Amino acid sequence: MLKSKSIVSIDDVETEDFYEIFKRASIFKRAVKEGKILDLMKGKIMATFFFEPSTRTRLSFESAMNRLGGSVISVSEAKSSSAAKGETIADTIRMASSYSDIVVMRHPMEGAARLASEFSTVPVLNGGDGSGQHPTQTLLDLFTIWEKYGRIEDLEISMIGDLKYGRTVHSLIKALSRFNNTINLVSPEILRMPEHFLSSIKSKAKIRPDSSLENVLGTTDVFYVTRIQKERFVDLNDYQKVIGSYSFNQDLVERMKESSIIMHPLPRVDEIDPRIDSNKRAYYFIEAANGVFVRMALIDIILRGGEYE
Ligand code: CP
Repeated sequence: MLKSKSIVSIDDVETEDFYEIFKRASIFKRAVKEGKILDLMKGKIMATFFFEPSTRTRLSFESAMNRLGGSVISVSEAKSSSAAKGETIADTIRMASSYSDIVVMRHPMEGAARLASEFSTVPVLNGGDGSGQHPTQTLLDLFTIWEKYGRIEDLEISMIGDLKYGRTVHSLIKALSRFNNTINLVSPEILRMPEHFLSSIKSKAKIRPDSSLENVLGTTDVFYVTRIQKERFVDLNDYQKVIGSYSFNQDLVERMKESSIIMHPLPRVDEIDPRIDSNKRAYYFIEAANGVFVRMALIDIILRGGEYE
């Protein structure tokens, strides 16, 4: 299904593709842990364009391509490419797709990845477009949930923090609402998930906007905590009003279900106390590590297709 396709929105990924990605990511995870050397992408080149800062997305995509035996060419900041001289996304991508077999792009403008995919002759993977979406993050989030619970349905998920500007939750809610889940939305008033976005979701899930953390603490299976996206605020006075709204600490953790997990796309600022990193519920570093295996699976499915056993 995904062979030769771009992924700019999680809507570009069919539900059956989720399970194929999980299966292949599991195989690659085992292969890497066993120290296997893979050459499935030998001769293939990935171009990564990061016009906004990134640690996990860029490095895990590049690690994934290297682990598959492919090569990477990379622009790690806008000022080091001709974008700084005014080159358009269209021209940048025309060039990138003549130099590579697959392109990964992060850009501050919502819709940039969609635009890039229209001018590219090779698949484009959205590594985050402004406050839009982050679909490959969602795939690794789903994989992490699936590894823990063996399913991505019949769960109670609480999304917490910046639901307005946070692109990871925009993609994640679209994916999780395809299934019978309960999704609690917990945020400061000014950072609620936009109404137009919520109403565009064809949901099988029960979505509970305006939930309070206190009310969902004891019933939630997956806490998905997000950073307040300071860089997206037009007025920094508004940021000052919401800074420190949520802080996951030992006190909160003790009131959660034993089987619950805490996820976070990272980076974190002050919303998760590092003292709970060693708690068995802290899944955010496992989640980030899974980024490599899920991106290996995606690259392999998109560029090679077929089976991998
Ligand atoms: N989760 C995520 O997108 O992290 P980076 O911004 O470090 O890529």
